Amino acid sequence: MSTASATPLSSGTAGPLSGSCRVPGDKSISHRALILGGLSVGRTRIDGLLEGEDVLATAAAMRALGAGVTRGGDGAWTVSGVGIGGLQEPDTILDLGNSGTGTRLLMGVVAGHDLTAFFTGDASLVRRPMARVIDPLERIGAHIVARDGGRLPLGVTGAVEPLPITYATPVASAQVKSAILLAGLSAPGETTVIEPLPSRDHTENLMRHFGAEVTSTPTNEGGRRVTVRGQPELAAADLAIPGDPSSAAFPAVAALLLPRSTIEIICVGTNPLRAGLYETLREMGAAIAFNNPRIEGGEPVADLSIRASELNGVTVPAERAPSMIDEYPILAVAAAFARGRTVMHGLAELRVKESDRLGAIATGLAKCGVAVAIEGDSLVVEGTGTRPEGGAAITAALDHRIAMAFLVLGMAARRPVRIDDGATIATSFPGFVALVNGLGGTITEAHS
Ligand code: S3P
Repeated sequence: MSTASATPLSSGTAGPLSGSCRVPGDKSISHRALILGGLSVGRTRIDGLLEGEDVLATAAAMRALGAGVTRGGDGAWTVSGVGIGGLQEPDTILDLGNSGTGTRLLMGVVAGHDLTAFFTGDASLVRRPMARVIDPLERIGAHIVARDGGRLPLGVTGAVEPLPITYATPVASAQVKSAILLAGLSAPGETTVIEPLPSRDHTENLMRHFGAEVTSTPTNEGGRRVTVRGQPELAAADLAIPGDPSSAAFPAVAALLLPRSTIEIICVGTNPLRAGLYETLREMGAAIAFNNPRIEGGEPVADLSIRASELNGVTVPAERAPSMIDEYPILAVAAAFARGRTVMHGLAELRVKESDRLGAIATGLAKCGVAVAIEGDSLVVEGTGTRPEGGAAITAALDHRIAMAFLVLGMAARRPVRIDDGATIATSFPGFVALVNGLGGTITEAHS
């Protein structure tokens, strides 16, 4: 995959950003659209699919499992589904590249099918914990052989007769929830996941879109109980995927930090279970408006308008973490420019993302002259209300969001910032550099 050769990038002082743009399609929804389209009977047309490497790896895996997945000349994708139980055994290893979401969701799909599939990925993915899905999928009846610590490469032999289970997830993880619900599609009766805090609900929304019966109710402890009725007849159903709020976060924060900027980002997903960053930025004093709110493809979307703003430090509660779990790198950058202390609680999960993100954020900010500390599962950033020094070389550690966050920092800091490798940005946000530069940004290839 693209991570084979490093692409060093750098960014230096930029003027105001201005203009209107669209960010690529939502990564979470794109994976799910391909997978659930493949489990439905008939042809599903998908508009706005993210053509990032993570999603393309899921497309290739679904093809290897027997679904028809093609890209049309107009940029729309078509999935010819085979129905639940209709997938075939792949004759190659499924290489999911950098994608934890693709891996965990597909492990759930395979767990509910009478076949064996092998999974691997890049140097980041083979370090990530899979025991969190192995445990529930084995309860459903799958047999999984993995490396020490439940890591890739691993093999999944699906259950011949999958069992419906009720499973309380120790962490609020949409990937774990989705793996169980996807396996539960093959089981008779009801499969239930109880999560300690609500995580993104795109799997539930799309399962309903394709005709499954899914219920979701709050628990007394502040979590959610999600139940899917197994063995439904899923039917092909076209959909349009909104812009990814996690990708929009990068140009949005860049515009907040660069004085006199005003930008608009059209058709961004505003699902409340994904919108924690925007809520937090508003609490910090950010001028962000969600204009023309509407529903597209069963998901709320809006056109975002963002104006440069003076930010103040805030405390972000642990309960908000699932709704902005991918946004802490860029929030920490915003916090570095804010006036006063920002404390972000409940970040244990950041240790097991594409990199140890908690460590990567703290190390990178410290190199850029920002006072930062990790206290248990919390991150503390001391903003001075002025521009941090910057001027550092950052190791992105195969993590697209660390790369993008520090490139944003470099545009607003006193001195340029260099990233050792921006190749993984293409996993989630192909065209990031061109899009930001089109708004007035200053990201260039760095030569050693
Ligand atoms: C995702 C869920 C999150 C998130 C990831 C995408 C998904 O992971 O970090 O980028 O699409 O389900 P967890 O569910 O493990 O928190």
